[in-house]
Parts: sequence; C-alpha cells; structure tokens
Amino acid sequence: MIHDSFGRALRDLRISVTDRCNFRCTYCMPAEIFGEGYKFLPRAEILTFEEIARLARLLVGMGAVKLRLTGGEPLVREEVEKLVAMLAAVEGVQDLTMTTNGFLLPQKAAALQQAGLRRITISLDSLDDAVFRRMNGNRSGVQKVLDGIAAAEQAGFSPIKINAVVQRGVNDHTIVDLARWAKERGYILRFIEYMDVGTLNGWRLEQVVPAKEIVARIHAEMPLEPIERNYRGEVAARFRYRDGGGEIGLIASVTMPFCGDCTRLRLSPEGQLYTCLFATEGTDLRGPLRAGASDAKLEQIIREMWSARDDRYSEVRAALTEEARHQSKVEMYHIGG
Ligand code: GTP
Ligand code: 5AD
Ligand code: SF4
Ligand code: SF4
Repeated sequence: MIHDSFGRALRDLRISVTDRCNFRCTYCMPAEIFGEGYKFLPRAEILTFEEIARLARLLVGMGAVKLRLTGGEPLVREEVEKLVAMLAAVEGVQDLTMTTNGFLLPQKAAALQQAGLRRITISLDSLDDAVFRRMNGNRSGVQKVLDGIAAAEQAGFSPIKINAVVQRGVNDHTIVDLARWAKERGYILRFIEYMDVGTLNGWRLEQVVPAKEIVARIHAEMPLEPIERNYRGEVAARFRYRDGGGEIGLIASVTMPFCGDCTRLRLSPEGQLYTCLFATEGTDLRGPLRAGASDAKLEQIIREMWSARDDRYSEVRAALTEEARHQSKVEMYHIGG
C-alpha cells in the first residue's frame, strides 16, 4: 500500500481507454471545438490492451482494488471486452466496472458481461428528448440510451447506476421525472453537480444546482432521508426514499467537496497518470514502458508520484482566482469522470 502526502491510500484506478466519443455533450466535448477536423490521438500513441493490463496489474499490486473503465466513451474502443477479460483475470481486483453513455450497449452488453464486467454506470441527463439532445450535441435521443439500459439489465448487470449532470436552466426542471423513473425501476440514480473540469466548457458557478436544492426538490414530491456512505471515500452522498423504494446519490464536488478521502488515480489513453480530475499535468508511463522499463522501475515512478500527491482542487476551488481556475487543466473526455 502506498500513501500520499495527506495519508490517502491508492484504492481506485480509473482507466480511460480512448479520447473519442460518439456524443458531444456541451459540458464535456462541445461540438464547436470537437468538430470534423479535430485531431484525436493517433492509434500508435494509445496504450495497447497489453500495456494497460500490465500497468493495471502493477497498480493493483500497489493497492488499487477497484478498476473503472471510462473514456471518452469506452465502448467506441474496438473490442474493449477483450480488455475487460484481461482485467478480470488480474488477481486482487475486487470491483471491475465501466462508465458509458449507453449508446452502444445493445451491441455490447452481453459480451461485456461474459468478459467479466459486473457493474455498469450509464449516463443519462434527462428523459426529455429535446433537453437530452441539446445536452449531447444532438447525437442521440433518449430511446437509444433506454435501449442500452434495457440491454444492460437483460445481460444481468446489477445494480445499474445512472449518472445525470445537472445544469441550471438546462435540465434542472426534469430531475424529478428522472428520479421517479429510476425509482420505479430500481436503478440507483446519482445527480452530479456541474463541474469546472477542463477549460473548454465555459463553466460558471450560477449554472451549478447545489445538491441540497436537488434533494429538496425531489423530497418535496417523494420524501427522502440521508443514509451512510457504502464505503469511506465514496463520492456520492446517499439518500433513500422513506417509502422503501430505493436510493439516490448526490455527487457534490462543488458544494460539498470530498477530496479528504480521495483515493483515485486516473490513467489516460496515452499512458499518463493523473492524480486529480483537475490536474494540469500528468506523469508519463508510456515512455518508460516502451523503452523497456522493468516492473520495479515503473513501480518506483508511481510510488514517487503518489507520495508527492497533494491534490485537493475541489476544496480550494472557491478560493481560486478566475485565472488560476483557467490554467490548462486536463479535459474530462481525456481522463473520464
Ligand atoms: P461507484 O463505485 O459506483 O460508487 O462509482 P463512483 O462513485 O466512482 O462513480 P462514477 O465513476 O460514476 O463517478 C461519478 C461521477 O463523479 C464521475 O463521472 C465524476 O463526474 C464524479 N467524480 C468521480 N470521481 C471524482 C473525483 O475524484 N473528483 C471529482 N471532483 N469528481 C469525481
Ligand atoms: N461536470 C460534471 N460531470 C461531468 N461529466 C462529464 N463532464 C462533466 C462536468 N463538467 C460526467 C458525465 C458522465 C461522467 C463520465 O462524467 O456526464 O456521467
Ligand atoms: Fe462523451 Fe461522456 Fe463526454 Fe458526453 S460526457 S461527450 S458521453 S465522454
Ligand atoms: Fe480527488 Fe481532485 Fe476530485 Fe479532490 S478534486 S476529489 S483530489 S480528483
């Protein structure tokens, strides 16, 4: 086990398998910027499945017990189920899951399940088709994602979690509908406060709907009560319906930061390690990896990086100047949620 400068262990590894996505969510990959001519990473610069699996094995050996595949959109990486199978075979992995926009799940859900993926989180910001299309750059209607969710359920994924980013004036009038829908189906819905990840989405504090307000709006229709976190470091604060009809989560990085327990490390598609979602730079592992570094050498690089880690961006956000907030932070589509 390794600990950072605040005594936080390394427990979760989030692996971004591609910087590409078939959606253009305005808060993540605005279409004006990620147009036809946008240059995504060339194939040769992206880690192979073998390289990812080797790094994952090393990091699991150093304490990571939970692996999450993200992107961009992880399902646009060809044969990603092969990587799932390789990771499922790594000894010591306790949890192997994926965050996806759901669009390709009708084709992929069964193969992912067979490969050893057990849980899945699907993003769906609204059940209102016009609202959803506006948020994803008009790449998908709601029904396509509902088909993906149904496919995941049919393939046996349980529990199914749904992530919804909330933006004031954009989809906040549809959150109660979404909650009612998830409650009826037994899905765990988590609302995410809109965050200032990266530099491209033009984030403004006024666009954030505080978790407290989200809870109050749902509570008014379907009474809720707070419950304990499942585990130390869980990002979502949980609430259950008083009638026993399931739970929701609030991921309140802006109004209730959770850096104190942050045990997450992120691996980018081209092999950079990032110790924070809001990092301005990463630590390159692909260079040493392709130059023939031994496991011991790679471990040393990782240990030095994690020992020096002092990230707590969300806790200091409010005190930052506009300029400091606009430093060239890594983008969400690059390292996943
Ligand atoms: P569970 O294992 O299901 O509890 O997963 P999780 O809570 O890790 O869920 P998921 O990966 O779906 O994370 C949900 C969202 O929370 C992400 O998409 C991000 O938007 C946000 N998030 C996750 N980790 C961090 C973090 O370390 N910092 C901040 N600020 N936000 C995070
Ligand atoms: N703020 C909050 N959540 C975001 N996501 C992407 N960008 C942002 C942002 N700026 C969410 C996606 C998805 C997960 C990968 O991260 O909606 O649920
Ligand atoms: Fe794609 Fe997810 Fe970003 Fe939307 S939030 S553009 S689905 S990576
Ligand atoms: Fe962890 Fe950085 Fe998020 Fe804080 S802001 S919880 S340190 S990833």
